[in-house]
Amino acid sequence: MLKAYNNLTSGMYLVGTKGDKESGCIVNTFEQVAASPEMVVVAINKDNYTCKQIRKSKKFNVTVLDENADMNLISRFGFFSSEFEDKYKPFNVKYDLLELPYIEDNMTSLFTVRVKEEIDASTHILFLGEVSEAVWFNDKPAMTYKYYKEELKGKTPPKASSYQKSKAVSGYKCDVCGYIYRGETLPVDYICPICGQTHFTKITD
Ligand SMILES: Cc1cc2nc3c(=O)[nH]c(=O)nc-3n(C[C@H](O)[C@H](O)[C@H](O)COP(=O)(O)O)c2cc1C
Repeated sequence: MLKAYNNLTSGMYLVGTKGDKESGCIVNTFEQVAASPEMVVVAINKDNYTCKQIRKSKKFNVTVLDENADMNLISRFGFFSSEFEDKYKPFNVKYDLLELPYIEDNMTSLFTVRVKEEIDASTHILFLGEVSEAVWFNDKPAMTYKYYKEELKGKTPPKASSYQKSKAVSGYKCDVCGYIYRGETLPVDYICPICGQTHFTKITD
């Protein structure tokens, strides 16, 4: 069963919106569902700040990451909350048709979407929406979730739709992203290669 889930094909996306404030998160659950009108869907965990902000604004955008998108961007948008920091601050931010923030660097395209329906999917809300604008930036290869996991050795946080609990191992687990350092002793000042922070908790089998 796990293997079937792990081998589903999906991409890597940045969802942005603005309710009370600008917010955004990484997802791998964005899909086209109809062509005329152009309808899309995205699954966002109810505890993500971006979910609350989309519920407020009834609009969101999605940019498609290319394979050069780096771990700084992915960890900032994928492991931290917009509630406590302005995630867009370090980037060259642009604004779409609906005045929502987006980042063009290392993205292949942009979709701007008005929400038509919210569907309750237990831990997540499915936002079904109609595309107001779709912009093609370049022909660079889009990053797949498989590429993220296998080439960039990326991890998935508990709030992602695709999160799977890992088997028990000995080592040290990153308090933010769950990355596991295997070994008896954590090197002094060890920095998490995924999210860049330094807080770890010892774990045992
Ligand atoms: C590879 C990857 C895939 C993710 N997929 C999803 C997803 O499909 N849906 C979701 O709600 N969160 C997903 N997340 C988790 C959110 O990006 C993460 O919880 C983020 O910190 C939420 O930020 P926010 O509180 O500012 O909205 C994913 C994260 C990563 C790194």
